[in-house]
Amino acid sequence: MSDARGRLVVLISGRGRNLQAFIEATRDGRVRADIALVISNRADAAGLALAQAAGIPTQVISHRDYPTREAFDAQMVAAIGPHQPDLVLLAGFMRILTAGFIRAFEGRLLNIHPSLLPRYPGLDTHAKALANGDAEHGASVHLVTEELDGGPVLLQASLSVHADDDAQTLAARVMDEIETRIYPQVVAWMLGDELRFVDGQRRFRGRSLQQPLTARDLDPDFR
Ligand code: GRF
Repeated sequence: MSDARGRLVVLISGRGRNLQAFIEATRDGRVRADIALVISNRADAAGLALAQAAGIPTQVISHRDYPTREAFDAQMVAAIGPHQPDLVLLAGFMRILTAGFIRAFEGRLLNIHPSLLPRYPGLDTHAKALANGDAEHGASVHLVTEELDGGPVLLQASLSVHADDDAQTLAARVMDEIETRIYPQVVAWMLGDELRFVDGQRRFRGRSLQQPLTARDLDPDFR
């Protein structure tokens, strides 16, 4: 993946703020790649307009049009395959994927999850962090495996929870201060082969990682 420009496919269901971060990072050269296709499972996803405004092809594949998860995922694999992406990026894609889909893109399928995994897999992560009185909250970029939000975490960054935070203010800070920085950073590293997953090991710049990377490891361009 090192010299040529990479190819990305991004899957969304909603607002597309992570997608917008990829659009900006591919435009300004921090991520040396083109977004070949944006797929949404919802026709009303606001992120579709962000892609269109950037001149990126979009496709809506509604899960409601398919009788089973397997049939929906098979259609997605068929739509993504011809683009031969280096990475398939789940960016607020709100469907649970089948083993068949995950296997089709194993090792090049990434997700961002708004919590400090393994804390709070699943939904409503910000409310859960508040309800538990956590002092720190954050987001994690991980490889996708068949365990929901359970694949190897590559990079995780945190912020302090404020006394007056509610789920909305906390979610907004995690998005603005963390998600939109760490996800493009991981993509840049993986496309440059600086960050790899080999033989079940996370490797960063030639060394094996025992823990996820953190905000301290971010390149200056992504801080
Ligand atoms: C983000 O918080 C992401 O971590 C989660 O869903 C949200 C998507 O937001 N999985 P957006 O569509 O990128 O704006």
